[in-house]
Amino acid sequence: MNERETLKINRLGHLEIGGADTVDLAKEFGTPLYVFDEAHIRNMMRVYKTTIEKEYDGNGLVLYASKAFSCEAVYAIAREEGIGVDVVSGGEFYTALKAGFPADKAYMHGNNKLVRELEFALDNGIGNIVIDSYREADILNDLAKKRGIKQNVLIRTNPGVEAHTHAFVQTARTDSKFGFSIGDGAAEDITRHVLSKENLVLKGYHCHIGSQIFEKQSFIIAAEKVMDFIASIKQKLGFEACVLNIGGGFGVWYTDEDPKLKLSDYADYLKALIGAVKTKAAEHGLNKPYLLIEPGRSIVGEAGITLYTVGAIKDIKGIKKYVAIDGGMFDNPRYALYQSKYTVLLADRAGEECTEKVTIAGKCCESGDIIAVDVPLPEAESGNILAVLTTGAYNYSMASNYNRNFIPAAVLVNDGKAEYIVKPQTYEDLIRNDVIPERLKK
Ligand code: LLP
Repeated sequence: MNERETLKINRLGHLEIGGADTVDLAKEFGTPLYVFDEAHIRNMMRVYKTTIEKEYDGNGLVLYASKAFSCEAVYAIAREEGIGVDVVSGGEFYTALKAGFPADKAYMHGNNKLVRELEFALDNGIGNIVIDSYREADILNDLAKKRGIKQNVLIRTNPGVEAHTHAFVQTARTDSKFGFSIGDGAAEDITRHVLSKENLVLKGYHCHIGSQIFEKQSFIIAAEKVMDFIASIKQKLGFEACVLNIGGGFGVWYTDEDPKLKLSDYADYLKALIGAVKTKAAEHGLNKPYLLIEPGRSIVGEAGITLYTVGAIKDIKGIKKYVAIDGGMFDNPRYALYQSKYTVLLADRAGEECTEKVTIAGKCCESGDIIAVDVPLPEAESGNILAVLTTGAYNYSMASNYNRNFIPAAVLVNDGKAEYIVKPQTYEDLIRNDVIPERLKK
């Protein structure tokens, strides 16, 4: 296993996260269980924040992309760390507000924001809305006018940068449901449109080139393209953007096929990006824009693991050995969706040598319900605790009650002590919104 600050193997041969023994956690809280190391989350928030402070005179803000993991506690941590958040639905914004998160530090995204979401955002004083369609600009202007307010907005652009990542999470190509392409003049046209709206205040531009990206150059080229665009808009329309939001996308370690980045590496990514923005600002004679970045996965991804209990084991001789767990695609749909790879280990026998390759299967009623294929493990037995690493991002947030399974609880570990941040569900929760029409009642 890759030794990390967050994880270690203790003298009992058990996996520890944030100083807590995972075998004890499984006993106390049950499985499946999402476990998050608070120190890891805070360190990641801090490294971005301090890099902006040091390298860019603090002229910017880190926005935690909360689609990666949204629950009240994580917004409370972001609030304490003095960073902002990116929200992509009324639900995420509501959760942030409930956690006491300052609305003016929230930025709302979405390619098809609903009218009720825009109304909710305005009524609760959202800081900024990132416009992604003409329709949205028109609706938002009307809603702002009705309320007698002027709403700060950004425009989502599409710089046409191809990042080497899974095709499903490439977003900044010209063919994308997101943003307005810089290359074909669409971004310029929507700029004119938004500038003509009396109740919208255009602050600048946003772009997001994809997720799980390791190439520094992708971020640099994207930043350069948007800076060139800002310069050309200034020249053509006399409008100089004062905000540049460069999105998220920094990669994390899932398996040893991925680089294992240190905090200083993440700082270097941001430094390189800042360098490109500064150079372009000087080249074009622009003011240095207020810089926003939106990391999600890199803040919570490696901070989280999922603990399961091994149940049925099926050895199909000469073909495959299936090790089934008490979770599955309802708590982690990422293999089913993207064939994502994970590192898996037996948390209660973490020091033992791996002697076989097995496929980790979930408990849902379909063959595609797999968590990992052909992963090395010691010979597992029913009752062993299995840990899947790097599940902090896009696991809980993408979980469902498929097959009426419970979405697992989540605990936050701080200095070896764990507390619930998401309580376990009950059967009652599953039927909470069900209604039997009178005519179907016996
Ligand atoms: N900003 C915007 C506008 C985004 O669309 C995203 C992610 C982020 C920031 C955060 O990107 P990150 O730093 O987390 O890479 N469900 C997929 C990932 C979808 C990402 C969507 N947008 C997965 O499980 O891999």
